[in-house]
Amino acid sequence: MRPLPNTADGNRPGKRAILAQAFAQELAGAASRVEAALETLLPRESDTAIAAAMRYAVLGPGKRMRAFLTLATSALFAVPQAQAVRAAAAIECLHAYSLIHDDLPCMDDDDLRRGRPTVHVLWDEATAVLAGDALQTLAFGILADPATHPEGAVRAALCAGLARASGAGGMVGGQALDIAAETAATPLSLDEITRLQALKTGALIAFAAEAGGILGLAGTMARRALLGYAQALGLAFQIQDDILDIEGDADAAGKRLRKDDAAGKATFVSLLGLEAARRQAQETVAEAVGWLDAFGAAADPLRRLARFTVERQR
Ligand code: IPE
Ligand code: IPE
Ligand code: MG
Ligand code: MG
Ligand code: MG
Repeated sequence: MRPLPNTADGNRPGKRAILAQAFAQELAGAASRVEAALETLLPRESDTAIAAAMRYAVLGPGKRMRAFLTLATSALFAVPQAQAVRAAAAIECLHAYSLIHDDLPCMDDDDLRRGRPTVHVLWDEATAVLAGDALQTLAFGILADPATHPEGAVRAALCAGLARASGAGGMVGGQALDIAAETAATPLSLDEITRLQALKTGALIAFAAEAGGILGLAGTMARRALLGYAQALGLAFQIQDDILDIEGDADAAGKRLRKDDAAGKATFVSLLGLEAARRQAQETVAEAVGWLDAFGAAADPLRRLARFTVERQR
């Protein structure tokens, strides 16, 4: 591990900074395994403009937090690494599609993502829509391939789970509520915002955790615990996204910030204020970690991920 520099006042770095750096390296390790798989699963750059845009969107510097979740939950059930990596790659494709479309002028109209121009800015809107569409179908194609799991029933369960998480009853449904809330006559209640976030962000994060349980043929109790963990994690993750939109550093985040308020977005911060949103994020992480007791020390990577979710600056 690279030594941490001393702090500005000459003191040695604190335990928190050391733990954060160790987790950053753990996350980078998972990212590089999944990115190596994506390199070969994505179409060749030279094939078409759509192929080039797909690669650009997926292989850009994302945190790979959903991929980490799938690898870490798969490890609980001794799922072969190659299978877990394929499921994680599929989820990153689906996630990248959701980001391309989220940035379009008809949605959030963003020109910056992961520190680089968005797909519709670099190419055009039609290419962005189609590259997103193609990433979505690629995700299901990866899950349906026998290399992901030898049993057809397991592959079908993965496909059904991803469909539920990403469709009208999941991510797409949440995005629709998010857009509708911009022009709603009355601000959303806390319950309504919680539901919006659970769909928009939580559903795919929950599936990323469930995927490990599906691949590992986990029992009902273990599956329930993973779902409880991931639902709370997803909520904490989106609260931190909303907090970063208000007080984050745009260079660190790699995307335009302070846009939610300007667009009249309903967020945890708009409803609760910053202080209460921070408290809520911490409490939600504690709730997430509370679900992991039955897994013992094997779930430590998931505990570290939960802390990272609310301490991250990007
Ligand atoms: C951004 O997700 C979109 C939200 C659901 C808030 P991430 O913050 O995980 O984005 P990347 O993948 O690291 O770029
Ligand atoms: C996007 O939420 C969620 C999805 C893409 C499903 P946001 O609009 O808050 O994400 P950022 O802030 O642009 O990353
Ligand atoms: Mg959005
Ligand atoms: Mg957005
Ligand atoms: Mg946001």
